[in-house]
Formats: sequence, C-alpha cells, structure tokens
Amino acid sequence: MPAIGDLRVDSERLYASVQALGRIGAYRDAETGLKGVNRLALSAADGEARRQLVARMVELGLEVEVDPIGNVYGLRPGSDPALAPLLIGSHIDSVPTAGKFDGCLGVLSGLEIVRVLRDADLAPRRSLVVSFFTEEEGCRFGTDMLGSAVATGRIGLQEAYALRDRDGVSVREALEAIGFLGGAPLHRPTPRAFLELHIEQGPVLAAGAHEVGVVSGVQAIRWQEVQITGRSAHAGTTPMNLRRDAGLAAARVNVALREMCASGAYGGMRATCGVTQALPGRINIVPASCRLSVDLRNLEDQAMAAVVRDLEALYTRIESEEGVHIERRVTAETGTVAFDPALRGSIDGAAARLGLDRLELVSGAGHDAQEWARLCPAGMVFVPGENEGISHNPREYSSPEQCAAGANVLLQVALELLDEREDPPR
Ligand code: HGY
Ligand code: MN
Ligand code: MN
Repeated sequence: MPAIGDLRVDSERLYASVQALGRIGAYRDAETGLKGVNRLALSAADGEARRQLVARMVELGLEVEVDPIGNVYGLRPGSDPALAPLLIGSHIDSVPTAGKFDGCLGVLSGLEIVRVLRDADLAPRRSLVVSFFTEEEGCRFGTDMLGSAVATGRIGLQEAYALRDRDGVSVREALEAIGFLGGAPLHRPTPRAFLELHIEQGPVLAAGAHEVGVVSGVQAIRWQEVQITGRSAHAGTTPMNLRRDAGLAAARVNVALREMCASGAYGGMRATCGVTQALPGRINIVPASCRLSVDLRNLEDQAMAAVVRDLEALYTRIESEEGVHIERRVTAETGTVAFDPALRGSIDGAAARLGLDRLELVSGAGHDAQEWARLCPAGMVFVPGENEGISHNPREYSSPEQCAAGANVLLQVALELLDEREDPPR
C-alpha cells in the first residue's frame, strides 16, 4: 500500500467523470461551433446532473442528504464522530454558455478523493463530506452563491424561496419541479474546513506557466438590476432635444463605468453590463425603457464603496439630463474575503511536495468557498485554463494533466486534515 504522501488521483477516471457530467445540458454553441453546456440552476438538465451525482455518491457508499435549498451532501463517516467533518464542494449549475469545468471539477474531484480512500482502504478519523450547492452562478434567480449563502446564514431560506427567474418561476417551485426540495437540516455541524478546487477562469496561471494556484481570497462583488424608463417616440420626427431615450441613458451608464475603470481612481475596478434590453426594440422607435444589469468587482472594499457612491451620483445626473427615471436594485453584494492562512500554507506545501509550480493569487470570480469562509477555515486550489483561461464560454478547457495536478493537491491537503487526531481550537 503506497504511503499517504504517494497517493494520487486516477487522472483518467476523474477526467472521464468531467466529460460525462458535461454531456448533461450539452448544446451546439452558435458563436464557437463547439459543444457547450447549458445547465441553469434547478433546470431539468440540472436535475438530471444532480441525479447522476447522487447515484455516484450512493455507489460510493456515501450517506446522501438534500437540504431545503437543494444543497446535496454525501457523507463518508470517519472513525471518530466527535471530530468536525471536512467539507469539499463546489457547484454543478452553469451559465447558459458554459464549458465543462466551472464548478464541476471541484465536486468531481471530491468524489475522486472518496474513490482514492476506498481503493487505498483508508478509514480516516475525520468524516469527509462531498457537496454541491444550488445556484452558485446566480444567473437564473439573480444572486450568486445562493445555496451556500443560505446554508451559511447570509441569505434567509424564505428570501431565497421567493426569488423568481425571468419566467416568474420561484426557487421553491423550481426545487419542487426537479425533486430537490430536501428535508435535511439547513445548518449542519460546522466543518473543520471547506476545500474547493476550481478552474482559475482567467489568464494568470497559464501566462506564467504555473501549474496550480494557491487562492488567497476573493474580490468584492456587487450586482445591480437597473430599469430605465423614458418615453417612446418616432425616430424620424422627434427632435433630439425632446427625447427621453432610455437606450441612450443605458449606454451612458455603460460608457461611464468603463471610464471609471480606466481612470484608475477606483483600485482594480471591473464593470460589466451583461444585459442591455431596450424596448420596444425596433429600429425606428426611440426606446421607451431599457433593462440593464451591472456587475461590479473590486479588489478593495473601500474602492467598491467609492464606485457605488459615484455611480449613484451618475444615475441622478443622467436622470435629469436625459429626462428618464432610473430604478436600481442591488441583487448581490459580497465584500472581499481572505482565505485561511494555515490552509493556504497546507495547499502551498502540498503543491511543493508534488513538485508543482504554483502562484498565490486572488480569485476574480466568486465561489462557494467565500461563503463557507464565514463559518470555518476555507481554502481554494486553482488549475490553469487554456485559451487564456476563458470561462463562461464553451472554449473553457483544462487538460487532464492540469486537472489531475489540482486534484492531487486537494487530495494531499484533504488527507492531512482527515488524519488529524483532534479539532484545533476555534
Ligand atoms: O460570477 C461569478 O463570479 C461566478 O462565476 N459565479
Ligand atoms: Mn464556478
Ligand atoms: Mn461560473
């Protein structure tokens, strides 16, 4: 039997599980011509993917529980039930134009670790729980990391249930429709630690030929739904000074955000208006209304606060100059998060023992780990992606070697934690 430090994941088995899951919700992408993944949270495809993973968990002898927000937990009991469990997880819901790796790699690596423990006939003291959480992406029901936020107490269950998608379907109705409105306790025993393996979703690791990322934390996130109301008018007969053009007002917000980012006055600010829907949406009609989404990211909480302040002033100025009304609603708001230094050290040490070139970096994307970091030590391992690390796009790709390297770091850190004789003081 190999020594603990020599245990490795089965790279082919792991990669095959990523490919198999990626076939659920597969579609032919018009932009790239590639096969992408469209598996919105709590959709029929998400339900099918959930059932596939629950079946894998049962095959592996895990005790499966589903909580009231649809989070799924697979428990492998340890020999000392007094010890707090190690929680490994991520998400399997996707954006509508996804690749196969975002979230899924972390959940499937957790199941691969269960297989390694089984094959090595190991019975660690500490229990291991492999989990996946509901609506991490936030792009169906409007707020990200929803399942983890409810499980860790940032968002109330009833508040979550009431969220509705573009067709008016509520979270609760969608959970019932796919059979994942669970009855397990929402708040579980506080984990010893939360570990998440994830693709970087950016260009940094690949650009520096780093094999893994040791994630120091996550940047601040703030989402707004903006509804701009102007007045419809004839495009030919209406003089420019008599218009209340909602589409123009939306464009001014988008351009101003880009100028704020470029000014350097707001730290490492990033802004995206992913949704811009002008109505009635015809060439010869001045838009009466425009729906705009605003996604703000910032490495510094204070800089984010300055962005929010100045954006409010901008909305007011545009309202008066364009004669429109701008309604705005915050739909997601999380501050910067720093991951546990001791876990970062364990991740770095495991990568060093594996001879992997690694880099410490902040996550540009939000992750379930940032929610669990409020309850327990949380840590993340990143793997690089090809094609400049593109993600939220079918061109998202990490090689079997890249995935295995990250999963082996996760495995080694997990083995260290699973074998502890006692819980550290909180
Ligand atoms: O939007 C994000 O950062 C993540 O992909 N949910
Ligand atoms: Mn993700
Ligand atoms: Mn994502």
